[in-house]
Amino acid sequence: MNANFFRTVVAATLAAAVMPMRETPAAPDLTARWVSRVANGDGTFRETVFVLNQQGRTLTGSIINPSSEQPIAEGTVEGNSFTFASAPATNPRRVVYRGTLAGDEMTITVVRPGRPDQTLAATRGPDSAGRLPERIPPPALHAVPDNGLARTPPMGWNSWNHFRGMVDAATVRAIADAMAANGMRDAGYLYVNIDDTWELGRDAAGHITTNRKFPDMKALADYVHGKGLQLGIYSSPGPFTCAGYEGSYGHEEDDARTYAAWGIDYLKYDWCGAGRLYKDSDMQAVYQKMGDALRATGRPIVFSLCQYGRQEVWKWGAEVGGNLWRTTGDIQDSWESMSRIGFNQDEISPFAKPGHWNDPDMLEVGNGGMTEIEYRTHMSLWALLAAPLLAGNDLRDMKPEILKILTNRDVIAIDQDPLGRQGRRLRTDGDVEIWTKALAGGSLAIGVFNRGAGPAQVTIKCDEFQLCDGEARDTWSGVSYVHFTSYAASIASHGVALLRVTPLHRVPQF
Ligand code: GLA
Repeated sequence: MNANFFRTVVAATLAAAVMPMRETPAAPDLTARWVSRVANGDGTFRETVFVLNQQGRTLTGSIINPSSEQPIAEGTVEGNSFTFASAPATNPRRVVYRGTLAGDEMTITVVRPGRPDQTLAATRGPDSAGRLPERIPPPALHAVPDNGLARTPPMGWNSWNHFRGMVDAATVRAIADAMAANGMRDAGYLYVNIDDTWELGRDAAGHITTNRKFPDMKALADYVHGKGLQLGIYSSPGPFTCAGYEGSYGHEEDDARTYAAWGIDYLKYDWCGAGRLYKDSDMQAVYQKMGDALRATGRPIVFSLCQYGRQEVWKWGAEVGGNLWRTTGDIQDSWESMSRIGFNQDEISPFAKPGHWNDPDMLEVGNGGMTEIEYRTHMSLWALLAAPLLAGNDLRDMKPEILKILTNRDVIAIDQDPLGRQGRRLRTDGDVEIWTKALAGGSLAIGVFNRGAGPAQVTIKCDEFQLCDGEARDTWSGVSYVHFTSYAASIASHGVALLRVTPLHRVPQF
């Protein structure tokens, strides 16, 4: 070997040992785990981790949110600027991220279709940023005994549809006050359910803590109980809830004990963040874990499963101790969303029974996105479906017409009928759908729905229901028809007629 060459190699190696591996590149190296924390305003933060790998002008990596991790697409770097997306340009719902690096801080503009741009600041995080805890293997399956609760579909209120992350203890108290004062409690609405965003984190002993919106959960439960109502809470089997708050992962038993100590009567348990650790096929076992934990507390706590109807939950929800299970994705306050969900529940009807209900999601009645006619249809359809009736509007401030819809005793009685059958679609005639629900004592609820854009003239006859010896009551008009033989009406666009037909018990003739 040539001595000069050797000297050159040694010199280069020494230089490499005392100098950075590369000279400072013209463009900065973005390779890192970049952490963005946005304050939620309650002492918690929503964290997004951008895992970036730069090679020349190409960026690869992933975007980690509390409930998802997705690879980035089309990542490029140009000087101090960069851009990447959550999906290729062919996906109309993709989110585009455009950023610049100044010193050690990134500024990223998030461009979501149909939403205002959002600007995030991100800094280099530790290697642990965004990493998941170790996966705890799900338990072996067994049947959790029935807790004896929810013999009729649960009724109450839930904070999510109207308040989202803006719910706090004062609002929950005021809602309880309203329910006790405005007749809702007396009409059967019992549970006052706090949805996502009450959590803070864990104390040194691992117990779940509340954020500053809920300074004293036990005092809140006492207050709600003092109003003759019950208090519900929300969590996730994952490390994080859907809104990115602390979940129950690895703390199921401890959390159940905490809920019981606070005086909680109802738990909605939402899959979200669990999807990063478990497959859908693990769901049953993962839900069973909380079913067991709730049972072990000895406190009666309604168990509400929220996993959007995946894995045919109606076939195993009762086995894990579930009293109700969501059958769909989230409802929106629109005719399109409500009717798509509501009219799509027919086939799973046989799985509903006392103690165990299909849940097509909470009510949107009164939230403003539908007409009164449509809200009556919403309420009627949910009653025929024996669906949980969880009002989702601001009960402190509601028009009398909305209160009338929510507290219609005849409609509630159809939902709460002790036979516990879910109604079914009997027939469809163009835009008109006829649904029936068998009620205790041989009575029958009949819903005549018009899904069309214009009014529909509809006639129904008693013989198609095998119930010609009955009295019919129109639940919305309050009109009764002795000797129901047929019923003819013009049903408004998106409207309903909901009848209850009661067989007439004739006194035997001697
Ligand atoms: C999911 C659920 C909703 C609500 C939110 C809260 O989207 O389906 O009902 O609980 O999470 O983050």
